[in-house]
Amino acid sequence: MTVEEALIKRKSVRSFLKKEVEIEKIKKILDKAKHAPSGTNIQPWKAYVVSGQKQIDLTEKMVQAFRSGKEEKMEYQYYPKFFKEPFKHRRRETGLLLYSAIDIKREEKEKMKAQWEENYRSFGAPTVIYFTMDKSLETGSYLDYGMFIQSVALMATEVGLGSCIQAVLAQYPDIVREELGIKEDETVICGIALGYEDEDHKINSYRTPRVELEEFVTFVE
Ligand SMILES: Cc1cc2nc3c(=O)[nH]c(=O)nc-3n(C[C@H](O)[C@H](O)[C@H](O)COP(=O)(O)O)c2cc1C
Repeated sequence: MTVEEALIKRKSVRSFLKKEVEIEKIKKILDKAKHAPSGTNIQPWKAYVVSGQKQIDLTEKMVQAFRSGKEEKMEYQYYPKFFKEPFKHRRRETGLLLYSAIDIKREEKEKMKAQWEENYRSFGAPTVIYFTMDKSLETGSYLDYGMFIQSVALMATEVGLGSCIQAVLAQYPDIVREELGIKEDETVICGIALGYEDEDHKINSYRTPRVELEEFVTFVE
């Protein structure tokens, strides 16, 4: 698979087969993704590979937190409080695509909530990698981190796995920290769900659009 093919093929997968992921595949993914660049090569990434009973326990604790209305305490500001255009529109369009793929209508709030809850179960993925970063590092390291996580997602594509990068998994960092034995000096960044795609599930049937080059590129001579 070429880089171009992997870039086009990768998409967020939100339903997985009940099939374990071979640990050798996970090791291969991380062993190649580690070649991602980082400013002055500091390599800020730290990964926790979670599967089996621990994955079930951790996700259920997050589901309970979500159901009980526990305060979300993400350790960095991922989104702005208010989105302006064109971001607002793109965001809404993405949500509509997802819900219409699974026949949930705008007014069906309970169904939407139930689908949102699946986020905390990583959509049934058998393996989830949680990413953390030392708290002494600064905003620049988030650039490095993005490159690393995209590399993980592209490698997953190459080895035949579906993936979904999930910021939602950093919403209850205290739960993640306790379950995985992560120290206080690490920021929980996000997670990535990994597994074999359930190709027959409607939620995996759509692709998100991208704006054309003319809309975001300026050629200057
Ligand atoms: C940093 C990051 C965090 C994300 N967090 C979530 C998440 O919590 N839940 C989710 O379902 N998708 C999440 N996504 C997936 C995006 O919604 C998705 O990448 C976007 O809609 C484009 O679709 P595609 O990945 O299929 O190309 C995240 C993506 C990124 C890059």
